[in-house]
Amino acid sequence: MDTFVIEGGHRLYGRVRINGSKNAALPMLAVCLLTDQPVILRDVPNLADIKNMLRLLGELGVVRTDAPGEPCDAPFTSGTIGLHVTDPSASHARYDIVRTMRASICTLGPMLAKRGFARISLPGGCSIGDRPVDLHLRGLRALGAQITLTEGDIIAKVPSGGLVGTTIFLGGAFGSTVLGTANVMCAAALAKGTTVIEQAACEPEIVDLANVLNAMGAKIHGAGGPRLIIEGVEQLGGAEHTVIPDRIEAGTFMMAAAMTNGDLILDNCPMDALLASTYVLNMAGVHVQPVAAVGALSAGSIPNNGPMASALARHRQSLLTAISGSAGVGEGMSRDGDPMRKSVRVTCERVLKPVEVTTQPHPGYPTDLQAQLVAMLCLADGNSVVTERIFPDRFLHVAELLRMGAKIARVGSTVVITGVKSLKGAPVMASDLRASAGLVLAGLAAEGTTIVNRIYHLDRGYERFEDRLRMLGANIQRVDEKELATQEA
Ligand code: EPU
Repeated sequence: MDTFVIEGGHRLYGRVRINGSKNAALPMLAVCLLTDQPVILRDVPNLADIKNMLRLLGELGVVRTDAPGEPCDAPFTSGTIGLHVTDPSASHARYDIVRTMRASICTLGPMLAKRGFARISLPGGCSIGDRPVDLHLRGLRALGAQITLTEGDIIAKVPSGGLVGTTIFLGGAFGSTVLGTANVMCAAALAKGTTVIEQAACEPEIVDLANVLNAMGAKIHGAGGPRLIIEGVEQLGGAEHTVIPDRIEAGTFMMAAAMTNGDLILDNCPMDALLASTYVLNMAGVHVQPVAAVGALSAGSIPNNGPMASALARHRQSLLTAISGSAGVGEGMSRDGDPMRKSVRVTCERVLKPVEVTTQPHPGYPTDLQAQLVAMLCLADGNSVVTERIFPDRFLHVAELLRMGAKIARVGSTVVITGVKSLKGAPVMASDLRASAGLVLAGLAAEGTTIVNRIYHLDRGYERFEDRLRMLGANIQRVDEKELATQEA
């Protein structure tokens, strides 16, 4: 098992490109199951979860054809993936794979709709919570799927009349579901008639998925909002698509810059998907400014009600003003194109300010940036309050941050963080992907040496993280745990 050894206290400085999004790519890889034609995806990151998804798709009769028409057996590195179904007979996603990667559940909707049958091992809980899939099943049942549970597997069948469109309320106790929306949207794309999904997830990854499906011939309207309208079609074709950049990776680099008093330029940065995050960072004294002339942020990113709406609208306006200068570039008038692929500079004030933040479904502050934010606020000048509304138990990083001298009190799903002057290096244990990222950030800022154990969690979501941090000036090494023990003995 690998470990990171970090000598903290080095300021990050330089330029880094944000990779394609893991959480957009995972459900997108599964859409190849909906068609007999090749699907080609660009800017797919080289991550453990992506490799697991490719292994699963291989077992489900999908061949990789990265160059058109040529089957490819080489291990995936990074970039372009072509996928083509050659054997639609196997429809069982086994526990062996599902337990290593919960996103295996994304194959359920596509397989069911195209093959009429799917058997998928029920994903269990994980370190961030129970993670049920009842909403996925509720949505698919509403389309007519017959679903039973046998030996820990979900068995789903299409009835003789086929899947039939209907109106589905997909909200649950914690709001919308991202992968549940993906599954139902994929199945509804091939259902008869029109499906309306109410309280659909509004995440940018769902918009990207809808864009691929539409490029394949689906008729999906309203992606990015809470009501999705899907007119079913008889069949879907192939498509080529570039995955959106990873907003969570971008947010993580922003906080790495802030915590090391750094100065970073992020290229390929999905600013339009980061509105709540940059708003919170701004409040904390972190400045994210476009470095080239940039275009407008779309209105779809702004919640139209709730207490954050007017503050976010003001924040958006100030960003628009900052990025458009006085030359009259406004909403809908993009000077250099895509608001999802900007170059931005991240700097911060000498003293970070405390903030109050609640995680919410998009466009609210993302749960996947909560651990990194808690780590950053450990160094703010005052008391911050962070409440987790998506996964109320996602706080395993807190006990580890305490080992580094942080002052954090937890009550239920809220933590109160009292800023300290400095964190102290210590051995810490990563427990999930984003907690690991928070601990790495803490290590970069801490005095002395931090050893982050079990970084296989981090490898699920950040490609060559240590190499990229090192290029920016961090002192961070990947070391085999056993090697480290020998050195210490
Ligand atoms: N929920 C239910 N029933 C369901 C589905 C979800 O009650 O059937 C609950 C969950 O327990 C949670 C909330 O609804 O409280 C939201 O869960 P969601 O279904 O949206 O999560 P997900 O789709 O399984 C994706 C990301 C997660 C990210 C969440 C929330 C992927 C592969 N995973 O998971 O990413 O935290 O949305 O934004 O897209 C990560 O990248 O580190 C990660 C965990």
